[in-house]
Amino acid sequence: MEVIIQPDEKAAAEWAAQQIASAIEAKPNLVLGLATGNTPRKLYRRLVDMHRNQGLDFSAVTTFNLDEYLGLGPDHPGSYRYFMRENLFDHININPKLCYIPNGLTDDVLQECETFESRIEGSGGIDIQILGIGPNGHIGFNEPGSSLGSRTRFKALTEDTRLANAEMFGGQENVPRFVITVGVGTIQEARRIILLAFGEQKAEIVRQAVEGPITCEVTASALQWHRSTVFLLDEAAASKLKRRDYYKYAYEHKWKYLQK
Ligand code: PGA
Repeated sequence: MEVIIQPDEKAAAEWAAQQIASAIEAKPNLVLGLATGNTPRKLYRRLVDMHRNQGLDFSAVTTFNLDEYLGLGPDHPGSYRYFMRENLFDHININPKLCYIPNGLTDDVLQECETFESRIEGSGGIDIQILGIGPNGHIGFNEPGSSLGSRTRFKALTEDTRLANAEMFGGQENVPRFVITVGVGTIQEARRIILLAFGEQKAEIVRQAVEGPITCEVTASALQWHRSTVFLLDEAAASKLKRRDYYKYAYEHKWKYLQK
């Protein structure tokens, strides 16, 4: 696990975009795991720029999104399919047939979850997984109490998550209660993970995820167990980390040491 602290959100988005761009150049049929929410917006904007201005080619890339609200179709502005089209897919040369998001309108939720898992497996597995972190420490919609070995499944949202997502729906009472989300175990199988977190409001939960115990109370803490995870933070989100200076020193100096 590596903690990388960038001066601000823009610099962090640039860092993540560069990682994705290099990975696509090395493997044009890269499999990307994608997140929604406010956190990855700048990253997606930067990937769109790279496509437009540097010819970054998404034509063979496959994507899997983490989650979707049940009951919302692709044309509902609150759905994650809609979010992904608006923020990324409609602006790059990706093949829509290779962009997988759980179907919020499925009439067989259990089958949809199984199919989603087997599609990830069939794709060869996720090369880079992008994550945000919820105020309660969730990754995907793996709310506190989720099994750290969980797979893609049907999940009920907690009220704090419904509150955090209320704006998009014009009030907490309108936020769907049920979702499909990949599991913590599914996420753990990604080859590399980049978790983004920005702003002071994320500082305490980032501290718990990075420096607290591994616990289902903070499902992001399971990433401490993952072989290649970067917590990519701005200064504000890193402000409560007790080893903050150490992480900065290590990031700035360790490559220089190897190049000596
Ligand atoms: P946010 O949501 O990016 O809108 O803060 C993150 C999450 O809930 O996972």
